[in-house]
Amino acid sequence: MNKAKTIAIVDPAQINAIVSEYSEQKWALIPLLQKIQNEFGYIPPQSIPFIARSLRLFPSQVQGVISFYTQLYTQPRGRKIVRVCRGTACHVRGGKTILKLVKQHLDIEEGENTPDLEYALETVACIGVCALAPNIVVADKVYGHMNPKKVEQLFRSRENEG
Ligand code: FES
Repeated sequence: MNKAKTIAIVDPAQINAIVSEYSEQKWALIPLLQKIQNEFGYIPPQSIPFIARSLRLFPSQVQGVISFYTQLYTQPRGRKIVRVCRGTACHVRGGKTILKLVKQHLDIEEGENTPDLEYALETVACIGVCALAPNIVVADKVYGHMNPKKVEQLFRSRENEG
């Protein structure tokens, strides 16, 4: 099973309620897209015609903006993004092992989501706190000086759920 393609249920009424707040306000396209993404974790493709109609744009214009901004997604993503640093400082201090362990604990590969959409796993070039290497970021919180025990502690509760 490709875990990255897990489909979330999206209520069209919920989409409509958000879109209607911005009716005919073309300037509001990006705030509207961000609000939808905050609500669903991504921008459901079925919301694009609603957005376009409401803001009096072409669907291709909405799609174009989504494609331009790398932080906007049209596929479901995990609610907590786990970013493992693969920069040089982290790499030489065991970052590769940390990535391997995170993959094992979450049972997913880089670029995938857990089936319950709790987590998504990414790697990043450097998160800017090299002195704490090796680092990972979970839901925007930095965890420095990572080691196998810390990885286990971070994701232990998840394994107990399974
Ligand atoms: S190389 Fe990992 S934080 Fe800079």
